[in-house]
Amino acid sequence: MKFPDGFLWGGAVAAHQLEGAWNVDGRGPSICDVLTGGAHGVAREITDGVVPGKNYPNQRGIDYYHTFREDDALFQEMGFKCFRTSISWSRIFPNGDDTKPNEAGLKFYEELFKDYRAKGMEPVVTLSHFEMPLHLAKMGGFTNRKAIDCFVRFATTVMERYKDLVKYWLTFNEVNNQMEMHTAIFPYTNSGIIPNPNDTKHDVEQKVWQSIHNEFVASALVVRKGHAINPNFQIGCMLAMVPIYPATCNPNDVMHAEILMRDRLLFGDVYVYGEYPHYLLNRWQREGFHIAMNPGDLEIIKEGTVDFISISYYMSAAVQANKVDEWDGHGLPGQVRNPYIEATDWGWQIDPVGLRYVLCTLYERYRKPIFIVENGIGMYESPDANGYVEDNARISYLREHIAQVGRAIALDGVEVMGYTVWGCIDVISFGTGEMKKRYGMIYVDADDYGKGTYRRTRKKSFYWYRNVIASNGEDL
Ligand code: BG6
Repeated sequence: MKFPDGFLWGGAVAAHQLEGAWNVDGRGPSICDVLTGGAHGVAREITDGVVPGKNYPNQRGIDYYHTFREDDALFQEMGFKCFRTSISWSRIFPNGDDTKPNEAGLKFYEELFKDYRAKGMEPVVTLSHFEMPLHLAKMGGFTNRKAIDCFVRFATTVMERYKDLVKYWLTFNEVNNQMEMHTAIFPYTNSGIIPNPNDTKHDVEQKVWQSIHNEFVASALVVRKGHAINPNFQIGCMLAMVPIYPATCNPNDVMHAEILMRDRLLFGDVYVYGEYPHYLLNRWQREGFHIAMNPGDLEIIKEGTVDFISISYYMSAAVQANKVDEWDGHGLPGQVRNPYIEATDWGWQIDPVGLRYVLCTLYERYRKPIFIVENGIGMYESPDANGYVEDNARISYLREHIAQVGRAIALDGVEVMGYTVWGCIDVISFGTGEMKKRYGMIYVDADDYGKGTYRRTRKKSFYWYRNVIASNGEDL
């Protein structure tokens, strides 16, 4: 199995999950700073400001803001060709609607990206990875059209500043998560929609659809402006790709799965083709959603299409049409356990072939290069006295997934740009806020409440992945 020359092997993280230093050097509060720690089956709470006595893990992260040079040296030791992180919007514009950026924030990322380059790692930068300044969320987040201008100002400021340091940009992380409209955390982290107990189901959905439209406009404007700043920029979208299988070959299951897949593919359709697909326009009309659009919005969307598609991939799902009536509003309507595959302790169904399947689906539909910017497994881990973790299950998860990427390249002809392991160093879990849901190849000695030495130690997968990169994927 041959991976192409120049394949971008690396790791991925997000600012709010590792930087910490939430209130230093002029940074304003971000929406993640008021998300409490949860657990598997215990939702994270969105509090009204910082409530004394509550546990806010993202305020601490793993303190990467202060340790990045040493941590980056470990990534370099693994041989990373690229490193994906995000910019914390409120480090640059503390309130979001400020007219002048915060120089200390700009300086921090300049040092960071220079450090990546000095260590041979190409920066891959997400502009909004579940983050916006809290102040903007209080103004309605992306339901408010003003957020478009604020986002474009933020994006163009950093693209100007780092135009010679960063080539690969992603606009909104896992923008399609918010299709789980009634799980408060997704509309909140994607679009800054603060839950309002008086909202009906239709009100929530209307807000999410309006935000999605505003994000499409914002993303398209950023693509156009980015290319004007540096024509060599490669600007992509970012989709959470969970393929949805029919649980049986009953045609009703097949059709149900097809309809649910649209909740992911509609994003690719707009980002790549620059047009709203027929099935979405039909749905808005049928379900009574009225999306406010300015004259010229559709032309902006048409002209600001992406250069490539980036995806996260962790699991697949299976659905059964006759189970929809039993749906409790979480996950997917009619979702059932797939009996052919195993699941993680958090119930994520492990399906390496599903990765090849989504690569084929996306490439056949869009013919755009695909960057796998997240893949990995969250596990409970206990290190030995030296901090060493024998994480064999992670190695086999990654090995099997990378093998399927190789097949998609070699047998299906899919153009894959690179592969970055999610949470290559243990970080705060997005979904649960836990530290004990670990994805890293580097162990961080910290618990869910911020106790620990924060010492970094290499796990077994560290050495394994180093070998994979050194052999350009041949030695799995
Ligand atoms: C993706 C996100 O949803 O999956 C990451 O882009 C997140 O931010 C990752 O951390 C894994 O999810 P979790 O909930 O296990 O941290």
